[in-house]
Amino acid sequence: MENNRRPADMLRIDNETLAMHFIDEQVKAVQAQVGNKKVLLALSGGVDSSVVAALLIRAIGKNLICVHVNHGLLRKGEPEQVVEVFRNQMDANLIYVDAVDRFLDLLAGVSEPERKRKIIGAEFIRVFEEEARRFDGIEFLAQGTIYPDILESGPVKAHHNVGGLPDDLKFELVEPLKFLFKDEVRVVGKALGLPDSMVYRQPFPGPGLGVRCLGAITRERLEAVRESDAILREEFAKNGLEGKVWQYFTVVPDFKSVGVKNNVRTFEYPVILRAVNTVDAMTATVEDVPFALLQHITDRITKEVRGVNRVLYDLTPKPCGTIEWE
Ligand code: XMP
Repeated sequence: MENNRRPADMLRIDNETLAMHFIDEQVKAVQAQVGNKKVLLALSGGVDSSVVAALLIRAIGKNLICVHVNHGLLRKGEPEQVVEVFRNQMDANLIYVDAVDRFLDLLAGVSEPERKRKIIGAEFIRVFEEEARRFDGIEFLAQGTIYPDILESGPVKAHHNVGGLPDDLKFELVEPLKFLFKDEVRVVGKALGLPDSMVYRQPFPGPGLGVRCLGAITRERLEAVRESDAILREEFAKNGLEGKVWQYFTVVPDFKSVGVKNNVRTFEYPVILRAVNTVDAMTATVEDVPFALLQHITDRITKEVRGVNRVLYDLTPKPCGTIEWE
């Protein structure tokens, strides 16, 4: 426990100079820890794993092997951004695993939320394990553990550990961010040259869009979640809400309602918009989104997203609603 406590004299990293100093220190520490051996990292494209990747690329270059598992539940453009930033711009050793069919086939017909989460988590470990076994003798595993994960404060579920790997795959951990708070991780990420869209992104649950495509996931409804989420994010960015609202997303339930389009009766899915503010995710208030913007987003979603004929805005604070719907 002792070496899991943030050193009392550690300065708060709140500017570029301190971030550069931290980066230099950690680059040396990682080089001393791993020498010229290879290190494996599950790179989701979230803030923490992206910052670890950028830091380790600086420290050990191609000896870092990044594995990006596309489980089909990521937001629009995310897998492409991981490839663009890490493979094309940072010249990383990146393995891109297209596991979309694997995940969606396993999830077909599964409607219970916790069961969906378990399947997604377990399959993620299986895919990662398969990739890890393709390399001989890797001793190190890098993880984007940050200090709140260690403190286990708040209900934001820890999702950084590729825990649950079989015993024979024993790795020594490389966790350069383990004493940093989230805002410090972002400052370090900026100093490492990562794009703002990666460094300042809103929280995104490990099971991804899987918990926003309610009930048993179908490809049709999953696309509706992904496309409507992209429209919501685009409109929030255009209207200055991107950096202001803590978390915002869309949800597609598994029931249809009657509507009318071009004088023809429709029977299609609704899209639910959610936009909340919170400090620690324990409680949350609903963002007072301007009505005209809600109308504009509704117009775009009903016109541009297939299979959708209605848009609702969720006015429920937490409690009594949770932030996610599942
Ligand atoms: P709730 O829905 O419990 O969410 O009010 C609180 C915060 O936690 C996120 N969340 C998750 N994060 N795995 C994650 O990594 C999960 O299974 C999960 N469920 C909820 C949620 O997005 C919100 O930020």
